[in-house]
Amino acid sequence: MTICEVPAAPAVHPALAGRFSPVGFDPEFEIGAAHVDSLLDAARMAPSAGNGQPWMFLVARRGDEIHRRLVPHLARSSSMWAPDASLLVVNCTQVLVEGTADWAYSEFAGYDLGQAVAHMTVQGLHLGLDAHQFRAFDRDALAAEFQIPPHWEATTMTAFGRASHAPGDVSSAGTSRERASRDEITWARD
Ligand SMILES: Cc1cc2nc3c(=O)[nH]c(=O)nc-3n(C[C@H](O)[C@H](O)[C@H](O)COP(=O)(O)O)c2cc1C
Repeated sequence: MTICEVPAAPAVHPALAGRFSPVGFDPEFEIGAAHVDSLLDAARMAPSAGNGQPWMFLVARRGDEIHRRLVPHLARSSSMWAPDASLLVVNCTQVLVEGTADWAYSEFAGYDLGQAVAHMTVQGLHLGLDAHQFRAFDRDALAAEFQIPPHWEATTMTAFGRASHAPGDVSSAGTSRERASRDEITWARD
């Protein structure tokens, strides 16, 4: 495993090469409604199996009522930094066909949500926003708070904002930045 602060391949887009998951956000920095719209539009444009679009989002801007209701459901770890982010987005997946107990909506629902979130994250980079995706929250309590239907799952959250520290900062300890090498992630390649 290698620390991958700067990808070896020079052709990697600078925004992607510089991307990292901050564990500190500027608590004064605000994201305007137009930028929130563009993040959602980026997700909308993502491809999905059969164009199923098995995603929904809860959008909480720091200081608004949704944010106030959401923050208590963060885990202790994420509550150290996520509330300072300008925006918290809950990324939800449609896991079941509505009204069924065990009929999967799509074999690719998780894949599709991840791709929509990736689009959103890359759009954020374009807007100068840092992002940290995370799972550290109480999924059941959040579902109850926002009455998420039972065939949906609150899968992850993304904190968007302006990082208050550099990628290599010791305060970012906790999220590993190690990466497998190109060879290690390749089973076959001529
Ligand atoms: C699905 C998913 C869940 C994650 N959950 C957490 C989490 O609960 N807490 C956390 O601090 N980071 C979480 N992360 C961030 C990863 O730890 C981070 O992306 C990884 O360590 C690589 O670091 P980097 O994003 O800075 O390159 C999560 C990332 C993903 C994609």
